[in-house]
Amino acid sequence: MERTFLMLKPDAVQRGLVGAVISRLEAKGFKLAGMKLMKVDRALAEQHYAEHKGKSFFEPTVNYIMSSPVVAMVWEGKNVVALAREMMGATNPANANPGSIRGSYGMDISRNIIHGSDSVASAEREIGIYFKPEEILEYKKAGEEWLSE
Ligand code: TYD
Ligand code: MG
Repeated sequence: MERTFLMLKPDAVQRGLVGAVISRLEAKGFKLAGMKLMKVDRALAEQHYAEHKGKSFFEPTVNYIMSSPVVAMVWEGKNVVALAREMMGATNPANANPGSIRGSYGMDISRNIIHGSDSVASAEREIGIYFKPEEILEYKKAGEEWLSE
């Protein structure tokens, strides 16, 4: 089954939105495979955002995800990478569909609630930098037969 890496950023934790966002992902039918509350250090933050090194928003974005605890998660499901991105909405919450996570809970690009992998290859890379293999759990979840044929 496909996996993605999702992270509730410091603003989501500080604003008490952890449960609200996770509820949406659970209700969609995705399966939680790994989760931890953690502080991101500079080395990890720079590795996470390596593709943006040199851009104007790189430093502020790195500082922001280091500023307070985050919830790092692995979610599984059919087409979960693309579907989670759809649920997140546009990068800038000001432009995000109001029904999306960023559109519902944010208003500025510098505080956009959630990170999600943008491709299956990015998901594999990001899961690998945040999680040890033994931190990702395989288990039978009740009701899986009601989610797809
Ligand atoms: P990006 O990977 O383009 O967006 P996404 O999170 O939707 O994959 O950018 C990474 C983060 O950098 C983004 O979530 C917020 C921040 N950012 C800015 O602060 N300003 C910007 O102009 C961009 C493009 C991103
Ligand atoms: Mg991105």
